[in-house]
Amino acid sequence: MKRSDFLKVVTGVAAATAVVPSLANPFIKASSAKKTHEPLVPVSIATWRFGLQTTAEAMRILSNKGSALDATEAGVKICEADPNERSVGLGGRPDRDGHVTLDACCMDHLGNIGSVAGVEDVVHVSSLARAVMEKTPHVMLVGEGARQFAQEMGFPLQDLRVPASIAEWEKWKEKAEYSPVVNVENHDTIGQLSMDMAGQLAGMCTTSGMAFKMRGRIGDSPIIGAGLYVDGEVGAATATGHGEEVIRVVGSYRVVAEMEKGFSPQEACERAVRKIYDFFQRREAGIQDTQIGFIALNKRGEVGGYALRPGFQYAVARGEGEEPVLLDAPALLPT
Ligand code: GLY
Repeated sequence: MKRSDFLKVVTGVAAATAVVPSLANPFIKASSAKKTHEPLVPVSIATWRFGLQTTAEAMRILSNKGSALDATEAGVKICEADPNERSVGLGGRPDRDGHVTLDACCMDHLGNIGSVAGVEDVVHVSSLARAVMEKTPHVMLVGEGARQFAQEMGFPLQDLRVPASIAEWEKWKEKAEYSPVVNVENHDTIGQLSMDMAGQLAGMCTTSGMAFKMRGRIGDSPIIGAGLYVDGEVGAATATGHGEEVIRVVGSYRVVAEMEKGFSPQEACERAVRKIYDFFQRREAGIQDTQIGFIALNKRGEVGGYALRPGFQYAVARGEGEEPVLLDAPALLPT
């Protein structure tokens, strides 16, 4: 498909955002059921607008026959290093006591996993999670122990606060009220999934978590199965948004399990979001301040994305040397 035609299709998907889930996704081919020996097409997909940069970087590596894990790590690191991003890495919003604490995890096609949570002074917590996976007999390190491990592994330590994030925290302290605003306030974790030219899948998820959170609060992002899950024989999924709700339904694992049942990545994301909605209804809990988004990628290189409410975007780079495009995810609720 020519890029100009493709963009027309993408615009159509954006317009399709509605209560009724749209399955019109330009990356789902009608022939998706066929099992032929087609050449493997590299794919990288990431949450939110910053995914445009991170998937472009991943595709550069994938196009040079790099691994899905290396490509994904190189992608999310761009976001972690950006001092202007308030929800990931350097410049992330602090907790209510003024500490910036980061969470991240990674998983590869073989089921290798690594995770760090509540880490201070380390920008590239995605790489630290990978180091836990590759260099320790454990799968998760938290807080001071994770920071100590980073130091031992030669990660530079630095203050993660920047003047703008300190100013936001100072302003927040005037009222010290936690009042999330959907899509813009704080839930823009980066989750990224890639498939390399060998057909191997990998994913990473990295965040500074909920802005002005209680000290010690951990969301879904470093929890394997919640913020990220990869099954090398099936597909991969990652989440963004209100971490407590994603943990409640073991969200990313749920998406992959739905794909294993035979649902497309798009349908699988929709089913996970609906489950979150069901849990809200059962608990008769207020849903007005919550946003959740899932993205997914299956072994055939098909992708999907879905959110609880409109506003969630994700980037997709598909094919050697191809530029990424930004998609508006369809949503369960109208607003
Ligand atoms: N999804 C990120 C968090 O809730 O911490």
